[in-house]
Amino acid sequence: MEKLEQLYKGKAKKMYATDDPDVLWVEYMNQATAGNGAKKAQIEGKGALNNRITSLVFELLKARGVDSHFIKRLSDTEQLVRKMTMFPLEIIMRNVAAGSFAARYGIKEGTPLANPILEFCLKSDPLNDPFINDDGILALKLADREALDEISRQARAVNDALLDIFAAIDVELVDFKIEEGRTSGGRILLADEITPDTCRLWDKKDHSGTVEHLDKDLFRRDLGSIIPAYEEIHTRLLSLAKHE
Ligand code: C5P
Repeated sequence: MEKLEQLYKGKAKKMYATDDPDVLWVEYMNQATAGNGAKKAQIEGKGALNNRITSLVFELLKARGVDSHFIKRLSDTEQLVRKMTMFPLEIIMRNVAAGSFAARYGIKEGTPLANPILEFCLKSDPLNDPFINDDGILALKLADREALDEISRQARAVNDALLDIFAAIDVELVDFKIEEGRTSGGRILLADEITPDTCRLWDKKDHSGTVEHLDKDLFRRDLGSIIPAYEEIHTRLLSLAKHE
């Protein structure tokens, strides 16, 4: 497989074309951003950890019947994925109140939710990814009814499988964001990444009563270095993958 021209540079990844029109070459960068790029830093080792973590998560999901765009990890910071036409949506699943949900409804972070909550945001940097509901998505033709139903079904299936994966490594899956796209053959599939940048992960091994964040909230909220936390997630996932 040959790496060709750069197609896209995002906040955390670069995407390159390959000699196969259905395959992209992804490079994970060390850049960390928060608040839609308002806060930025270069964090040595972050790209490699996220590349390794998302590769393991996609493999563990596959073992639980959830397919994704992931093909294989190539190196510390690189992987191959299937090329997709992305829906311009951030698809958020929540199991515990936190972040923007807790703030919006005036609920204490950590409040359990009676059922998982599926939310959508329009993916738009200039608009700060505003909330959008099903009718809005259909009215703006961001996805049709059939696609939206499939995206929702997959988001809930990803949540069920991730809850199983993270419970097995003593981590509480508070919430997460995924993205979905369509392959050239028209199949809707999970894409992008699943890492501590895109999930809230709380350590269940910590019994002090305070939340031990193993995710990007450490960076967003200036709570400490993300590297030891991301290393902890990586070590636990690796051990789970070896035992499966
Ligand atoms: O900020 P908020 O509470 O809405 O975030 C919900 C979840 O989605 C968090 O796990 C966060 O890491 C993730 N997220 C993301 N990218 C965004 C917004 C949220 O990965 N642009």
